[in-house]
Formats: sequence, structure tokens, C-alpha cells
Amino acid sequence: MKKILAVFGTRPEAIKMCPLIIELKSRSAFSVVVCVTGQHREMIQPSLDLFGVVPDYDLGIMRPSQTLFDISRDVLSGVGKIIEKEKPDIVAVHGDTTTAFAAALAAFYSNVPVAHIEAGLRTFDILSPYPEEFNRASIDKISRWCFAPTERSAENLRREGKRDNEIFVVGNTAIDALKYTASADFTSDVIRAAQGKRLITVTAHRRENIGDNMREMFGAIKDIASAFPDTFICYPVHKNPAVRELAKKYLSGCDRIFLCDPMDTVSFHSTLARSYLVLTDSGGIQEEAPSLGCPVIVMRNTTERPEAVEAGTAVLAGVGRREIFSAAERLLTDKTAHDAMKSAKNPFGDGKTSEKIANILEKC
Ligand code: UD1
Ligand code: UDP
Repeated sequence: MKKILAVFGTRPEAIKMCPLIIELKSRSAFSVVVCVTGQHREMIQPSLDLFGVVPDYDLGIMRPSQTLFDISRDVLSGVGKIIEKEKPDIVAVHGDTTTAFAAALAAFYSNVPVAHIEAGLRTFDILSPYPEEFNRASIDKISRWCFAPTERSAENLRREGKRDNEIFVVGNTAIDALKYTASADFTSDVIRAAQGKRLITVTAHRRENIGDNMREMFGAIKDIASAFPDTFICYPVHKNPAVRELAKKYLSGCDRIFLCDPMDTVSFHSTLARSYLVLTDSGGIQEEAPSLGCPVIVMRNTTERPEAVEAGTAVLAGVGRREIFSAAERLLTDKTAHDAMKSAKNPFGDGKTSEKIANILEKC
């Protein structure tokens, strides 16, 4: 029996790791130990509850205004100790967060092979997203199994010298997660308030956008609300106090702009499924919104998910007020363009990614 230590700490990691943990736990070939780092606190609990995943360890590292130094140091030493105690055969991490990077580094220092879920995504700009581009590439460098969502991400890994027997194209577990979340009969105050209007969902949280870029984004959102009186804009604001302060300052009290706390993922996916479009700087939302029929406007200058733009499910708008407004204006006025995006095929997998990863790890 192989012992797998799965480590995660933030909302998107929880949503995309839990379907895999459930799959691994269902097989007699594995014993699974779950460690949450606590990089996020309130924002991951709803996902743990939804999937019924109870962590064996919780490092509880979150602190107000935590720095990359704090997270890296606390996760490296905390996960290092758990590896020493549990002696896993494999450490599994997801994506590009500092939790994932420091946990992979702890495994590397302990000579335990790393399985990297969602490997090979690249913008090729080390500062964008920051520090995630560095984190993801560094995890790939030390991983024995790189689980790439698409052929393009596999090609990125090959070009960096990863061997064929280290790369596996399996899709993205984000699509597996939708089986647990999207609900056709879901309703909420937001959905009721938006009745008869076109619902637009917004999220924004990236470190490198806090400041000028977010002011530009929020300006565009106000412009959209004033130019299109038939819209209702819903923004579940990330728990980062710096983001909350800016959102409150620029958007609270605006007509038809509704700010709320982060939603649990059933509510959020159901809201996306009812939305005319989503404006976001998130990574994961670029993957899941197409399966919910919701066109994505990416409020960033780069994306490590160019497959979405090529498939026609997302538009990369940049971070300028005018550019974001123009991208939204086009979709709000050109029904053909909107319909094409709404019905374009999701390039990120078929919802069987966890099964494929478990099959590969079972045979290794
Ligand atoms: C982190 C990840 C980012 C990912 C994002 C998902 C890094 C460096 N960044 O960024 O890749 O896209 O999570 O959301 O790994 N906070 C709370 N409660 C919570 C969560 C956060 O209060 O449940 C506050 C804390 O004060 C914290 C701040 O938010 O200091 C920022 O959280 P942090 O994890 O450092 O960065 P994120 O921007 O969330
Ligand atoms: N999400 C959620 N509630 C919200 C906003 C987002 O559950 O109020 C989910 C969303 O469906 C996606 C994930 O959180 O699965 C994305 O997380 P985030 O944008 O924080 O991080 P990123 O994907 O950019 O790393």
C-alpha cells in the first residue's frame, strides 16, 4: 500500500485537491494522509465541508498580512516535520501557491517524490502572476509525476527537459469538482436580486493587482454598471483585507453593484451558471466557467491558461479601465459574440482527471 501525503492550504487548492483525495481514499492501493497548512482559514472550510474531507493535520499558519516569507518558512518546517513522522511514499501538491511550493520543497529535502497536480502551466513571465509563475515552475522541476491538464502544458514541460515518463496529460480536477457543486435548482438572494437583469460576476484578488490595477478594474466595473442599466453586478470579495479595503472604497454604495463575502463553492458555481459573464483575475475560474456556460473576461495582462483564449471561452482584456470596459461592452452588445463564447468547448478536461491520476499512481 502506498502512503500519500496530500498538502494544500488555499481555496482553489482545496476545491481541486478534494476530488482527488476522495478518489485515492476509495482505493485499497493507497493510504492517504491529508495536511492543510491553513494558509487560508475561513475560505477553505466550506470546501472541506462540501467534500467531507477531514484533515489529519492542520498547521494553522494564517496570520494577518502574512508575507511570502511567513508562509514559506512555516509550511517548509511544518510539512518537513509531518514527512519525518508519517514517512509517506509520495507527497502530492497542487498548482502554484506558496503552500504548494514550500510543501514540495519539504518533500524534496526529505527525498520523497512529489506528484504535482496541474503542472506545466506557464506565462513565461516570472513576475506574472507573482509569485505563482516561479512557484509552479519550481515545483515542476522537482516533481517525479507532473500531471499536466493539457497537451500544451505537457509541451512546456518537455521543453524544460522533463522526461516523457514524468509527464501525464490528464485534464484538470477543477472539472471533476463541478460534479459536487453545480446545482440547477439552486437559488440565492443574489440570483433573486438579479432577476430580470443580466447578472455579471466579478472576482479579483491577485497580489500584483492590489493598488493601481485594482483601481482600474473597479473603475471599469462602475462604468459597466452605469452604461448598462440592465445589469446587476455581484462581487464576492476575497478575505484579503487589502482587497476588501479597495473594493469598499471604490465600489460600495454603487447602484446595482453588490459586494458580499466569499461564497461557498456550490453558491459560487451556481451563480456563475446564471451569469451573463464573469470578470476575473482568478486562475481557476478560467477553467470552470466554460463548463457552466459563462464567458470569461480575464482582467490580467497574461494568462497561463492560453487554451481558454484559443478555445474561445475567455478573452484576455488586460488591466486597464478602458480595455476591460470595451471587452465587456462587446459581449453585452454583440449577442453572436456572446453566444459563441457561451457555447465554446471547455479545453480543460472531461471530469475524470482524479481517476486518471489515481490509475497512474497505482501502477508506479
Ligand atoms: C493565495 C495564493 C494565490 C491564490 C490565492 C487564492 C500565494 C502566494 N498566493 O493568495 O496563488 O490565487 O491564494 O485565493 O500562495 N485571508 C483571510 N482569510 C482567509 C484567506 C485569506 O483572512 O480565509 C487574508 C489573510 O489576512 C491573508 C490575506 O488574506 O494575510 C492574503 O492571503 P494569502 O494566502 O497570503 O494570499 P492570497 O492573495 O489569498
Ligand atoms: N470561488 C468560490 N467562492 C467565491 C469565489 C471563488 O468558491 O466566492 C472558487 C472558484 O469557483 C474557483 C476558486 O474559488 O474554484 C478560485 O479561487 P481564487 O480565484 O481565489 O484562486 P485562483 O484560482 O486564482 O488561484
